[in-house]
Amino acid sequence: MVEIRRIGAEDWALWRDMRLVALGDSPDSFGASLDVERGYDEATWRSRMQPGKGVQVVAFNDQPVGIVGGYLPEDDADLVELISMWVMPSARGRRIAELLVDDVLRWARELGRPTVGLFVTEGNEPARRLFERIGFSANGEREVLESNPKLYCNRMICDPRTRQQPD
Ligand SMILES: CC(C)(COP(=O)(O)OP(=O)(O)OC[C@H]1O[C@@H](n2cnc3c(N)ncnc32)[C@H](O)[C@@H]1OP(=O)(O)O)[C@@H](O)C(=O)NCCC(=O)NCCS
Repeated sequence: MVEIRRIGAEDWALWRDMRLVALGDSPDSFGASLDVERGYDEATWRSRMQPGKGVQVVAFNDQPVGIVGGYLPEDDADLVELISMWVMPSARGRRIAELLVDDVLRWARELGRPTVGLFVTEGNEPARRLFERIGFSANGEREVLESNPKLYCNRMICDPRTRQQPD
């Protein structure tokens, strides 16, 4: 049984550990880089996890098996940015990511934010299919991936109110 739980700054070490494994496992899926984030100290992790800045969601199957984050850009009061989506390789293919994304959509609805956006690296078909199935669509924006300028990523957006799920 998979349990989805929002965590807080007191769980900063759990988030750090999962995040650093994710960055090492799938470097081309993320704009951030392992070298930078493994240099963060406790205060930095805690400050990134303040409630006013975003949400951190973890999937547990006894042990933590996946993470996703949402953050609130300061310059757009309508937007939740979905970040840090990762499921450990041994737990993939069981729709755990969908449960995690659904909690970020739920959080966006709780805040009354009408758009959830994300970037997905070109060629990352499992992720693109996952997000399309949930209701995201590409809006045509394309950017260089910060952590690997040989790659590009595409923007996908979703109105969280269109997703049918119990609140
Ligand atoms: C993308 C990701 C989050 C999906 O997580 P998940 O819980 O496995 O999601 P799903 O179970 O819905 O599977 C998604 C797709 O991966 C495929 N898949 C199944 N088993 C898999 C495995 N062992 N390894 C990789 N992909 C697998 C599934 O067939 C599915 O494709 P489908 O939509 O055509 O059915 C996960 O593969 C992952 O963490 N990837 C690396 C990080 C990443 O790309 N993050 C997204 C950044 S935008």
